[in-house]
Amino acid sequence: MIRIISQFLVFTTPIVVTMLLFFSSQIHNILYGKETHKSLKEKSLEFTVQIAFTGEENGYLEPCGCSENEIGGLPRRQTLINLLKKYDENCILLSLGDLPNKVGRQDEIKMETILKALDQMGYVAHNIGEKDINMGLELLSYLSQINNINLISSNIVTLNTEVFNIKPYVIKEIETKERILKIGILGILSPKLIDDNHQYIEVMDPVESLKPLLSNLNKETDILLLLSHAEMEYSIQLAETFPEFDLVISGHRIDNPDLYFKKVKDTYVIPVGEKGKYLGTITISLKYSQTGKVKNYNSYLYNRKLEYHGLDDERKEPAIEIIPLDKRYEDSHETKRLLKIYQQRLIDEELIKKVFKIYPPSDLTFIGNDDCAICHNKIFKHWENTRHALAYETLLKVEHEYDPECLSCHTTGLYYFTGFETIESTPRLRGVGCESCHGPGSAHKETQSKDYGKVNTNDCIICHENEHSPNFQFEDYWQKIVHPPEDKLHNSYK
Ligand code: HEC
Ligand code: HEC
Ligand code: HEC
Ligand code: HEC
Repeated sequence: MIRIISQFLVFTTPIVVTMLLFFSSQIHNILYGKETHKSLKEKSLEFTVQIAFTGEENGYLEPCGCSENEIGGLPRRQTLINLLKKYDENCILLSLGDLPNKVGRQDEIKMETILKALDQMGYVAHNIGEKDINMGLELLSYLSQINNINLISSNIVTLNTEVFNIKPYVIKEIETKERILKIGILGILSPKLIDDNHQYIEVMDPVESLKPLLSNLNKETDILLLLSHAEMEYSIQLAETFPEFDLVISGHRIDNPDLYFKKVKDTYVIPVGEKGKYLGTITISLKYSQTGKVKNYNSYLYNRKLEYHGLDDERKEPAIEIIPLDKRYEDSHETKRLLKIYQQRLIDEELIKKVFKIYPPSDLTFIGNDDCAICHNKIFKHWENTRHALAYETLLKVEHEYDPECLSCHTTGLYYFTGFETIESTPRLRGVGCESCHGPGSAHKETQSKDYGKVNTNDCIICHENEHSPNFQFEDYWQKIVHPPEDKLHNSYK
């Protein structure tokens, strides 16, 4: 009998439970209407898009090691981006413009190296800046063809479209389960930043160029971004003129970009800072409902990111982060390898021998420390024990001894004829020698004139400038290396 009852229960329980569930959901629907269903559906139509941006690389590859706590560098940036992508593989990476700093072969190789690095990191678009143009757009255009990154400019018109492969905008699509999100990316260059003697290109008025593009893109896309290679003031004006933009990434601010971002109605205008030393990120969330599209900048990702950024400051705008690339981020080996190849190319192309040089004034020549030592032996012996004497060896240690940019401050007279050339041909001009501060000494050697070689703080800050020697103060620094009093007998030739 017990067995029969239990068998009966085994059969009937599921049926009863199903019936109960059915009725309870019916009761629920009767009580609350079909609300639950609808709100579930709405909730699933919320998306977050993370945008990360840098710009104005200005040829800066990595910290040189001249002072402590330097920030920036492509290898660190790669590490941070890898982290961001771990949280959000759809993170969209954008570059505001200006890969090189100056013109010349070294900057060409840099440009190639940086673009390759950006490609490796997965950048979607690079907007064209005036320094890119100064290098000759053919090079940039060629480089873009061997990389995946899109070159964009909404207001540069190229008269030779076969050579210059520049798009007025790109639409980046993000596929989600429910829908394809379309992110429109446009870019402008302020005509003020460019001189007009460039063949084959014309820089048009940004407002006139953006207007027709936006009237189409606004309907077609979910989010609109502008890379504005211009002064902050002008970028703010553009944000006022075109409220369609969700974000305007701006340039030409030297200091900490964290201090300068602005909200213009619903549009954020954020500067990138110089030399790609900061990575900016913004999180935009989109909610779709029957009433339309609602945009929000929320702290969803920010809070998660706290865990690895270790940031604990209170901030007004939790959706935005301007992250300094400091020691928290290790160097990525992958990017380091690119920089090794870059150094090797400087060696292979013998760039030291191609440095642009000028003549020292009044037919003077550099003669080297050994000559000074003949008459100023005490000072020379003392100098040998200062860090100036070992400045070239420093470059050997960090394997930059063929890099003209480093040699300019770590040797004597690189930018002058008769100054440092190579370690083989001018070994006596290695390091920061006597003539780095006192100037070329050929005439003084002959006449021993007292007029020779006055030095003041301006002679120091050629090298001890803010970036490479932020703590420099003449009095302190000179005291550290002040010459010993001379033995008058030694140099009284007269
Ligand atoms: C504009 C001049 C300048 C340039 C360019 C420059 N350096 Fe320096 N470097 C300095 C000065 C000045 C110091 C000393 C700073 C101080 O102690 O205040 C220094 C210090 C260093 C040190 C630290 C030495 C030590 O023993 O602590 C390293 C390493 C170094 N530089 C490497 C480089 C490399 C690599 C490059 C090229 C990528 C480079 N420097 C380019 C001026 C320069
Ligand atoms: C042939 C000897 C001789 C050589 C070589 C020589 N000097 Fe002198 N130097 C002198 C004499 C002599 C004076 C003048 C000393 C005096 O009258 O008080 C002098 C003065 C100076 C002064 C001081 C000027 C002043 O304000 O009084 C400087 C700086 C100087 N030499 C630097 C150098 C440097 C750098 C070199 C190498 C490039 C060099 N000298 C090579 C002999 C020499
Ligand atoms: C041609 C470039 C150059 C000039 C000019 C120059 N320096 Fe330097 N200085 C360097 C470099 C490079 C180093 C770092 C050397 C190293 O360690 O590799 C350095 C290091 C030093 C240091 C050592 C810093 C420390 O913390 O121990 C002092 C002090 C210093 N310089 C003072 C001066 C003063 C004062 C002047 C001007 C009178 C001057 N330097 C001019 C390039 C220069
Ligand atoms: C980092 C820059 C620097 C270097 C390198 C340097 N000097 Fe000087 N030197 C100075 C300064 C600064 C003074 C003092 C200000 C002045 O007299 O103009 C000075 C002064 C002198 C004087 C004048 C006498 C004295 O002691 O005031 C002589 C001589 C001299 N230096 C020789 C040399 C010789 C020789 C060398 C190389 C072995 C050398 N200096 C390397 C910066 C430098």
